[in-house]
Amino acid sequence: SPRVLSGIQPTAGSFHLGNYLGAVRQWVALQETHDAFYMVVDLHAITVPQDPAELRANTRLAAAQLLAAGLDPERCTLFVQSHVPEHAQLGWVMNCLTGFGEASRMTQFKDKSAKQGADRATVGLFTYPILQVADILLYQADQVPVGEDQRQHIELTRDLAERFNGRFGETFTIPAPYILKETGKIYDLQDPTIKMSKSASTPKGLINLLDDPKVTAKKVKSAVTDTETVIRFDPENKAGVSNLLSIMSTLTSTSVEDLEKSYEGKMYGALKTDLAEVMVDFVTPFRARTQEYLDDPETLDSVLAKGAEKARAVAAETLAQTYERIGFLPAK
Ligand code: TYM
Repeated sequence: SPRVLSGIQPTAGSFHLGNYLGAVRQWVALQETHDAFYMVVDLHAITVPQDPAELRANTRLAAAQLLAAGLDPERCTLFVQSHVPEHAQLGWVMNCLTGFGEASRMTQFKDKSAKQGADRATVGLFTYPILQVADILLYQADQVPVGEDQRQHIELTRDLAERFNGRFGETFTIPAPYILKETGKIYDLQDPTIKMSKSASTPKGLINLLDDPKVTAKKVKSAVTDTETVIRFDPENKAGVSNLLSIMSTLTSTSVEDLEKSYEGKMYGALKTDLAEVMVDFVTPFRARTQEYLDDPETLDSVLAKGAEKARAVAAETLAQTYERIGFLPAK
């Protein structure tokens, strides 16, 4: 079966609704039909300063949330990036294939480094997308389920894979982005013109999946809409309402058209109240399951150890082939 690979950063606190709807929800679905590899990208996390104890805790927390969201170690390979040394190794090779100007055009780097102050950004942050290229190519992934903000990184991956294949012979599968139109970009609840994100959103605009469900309900109910009253999907003119409709549609598996029909003649408050309830029903068991995994770190760590072993078997093979193609002398 075709292969998918994706990754998520171990952030402090919890995943947010954009991470879940834009990516993790698809990961759960794809493990049924695809040979699926998912990882917590701790190597990527250190491109910005990290406290060691927190990084360790956040890595476990990320894995616990992925399991709570529905990843099943029997159906997918779940691992921690730093457990598989081939990521850094292939990352170096990819660094040597990337043009400086090409890397300079990555918009996420421009945004993130501007936020930090250009002088304080690390070289690691600059080469972040190139490590991501290595992540994807190591597993010969056919598809990469991510949110819209990762599209440019997947395009870079395709470019570098084609470049390598052209120069050294067919080695890497050319991956395609797997980005859903409906949820590829979930917007901030207070400013629906920007994407929901840990760094840019205000606390009220950001739904953390591990927030107290009461807090979540309150945030949904105070989401910014517009001065009209019609509940209609129109992202350009009604960004806030459209965002709420997208979220509601996905969480309830109801089409946006059906939602529009069922809210005909109703006020925004009705949609918000219903969505708040749907959200609470979703996050309440999610929180409890995450806590169960956190309470049993031995099981969690052994899931990750098994995942790393499976991942390494694939990654080592690709790296060996890559080294051979490049012309590295084999160690006898
Ligand atoms: P990260 O950790 O920032 O985000 C994880 C996933 O969540 C998606 N996402 C969103 N989707 C919709 N709406 C939003 N508001 C929103 N915010 C975040 C992201 O697109 C992502 O899919 N560079 C990656 C991690 C990574 C990776 C990889 C991904 C490292 N190596 C290899 C795929 C393949 C990142 O920082 O994601």
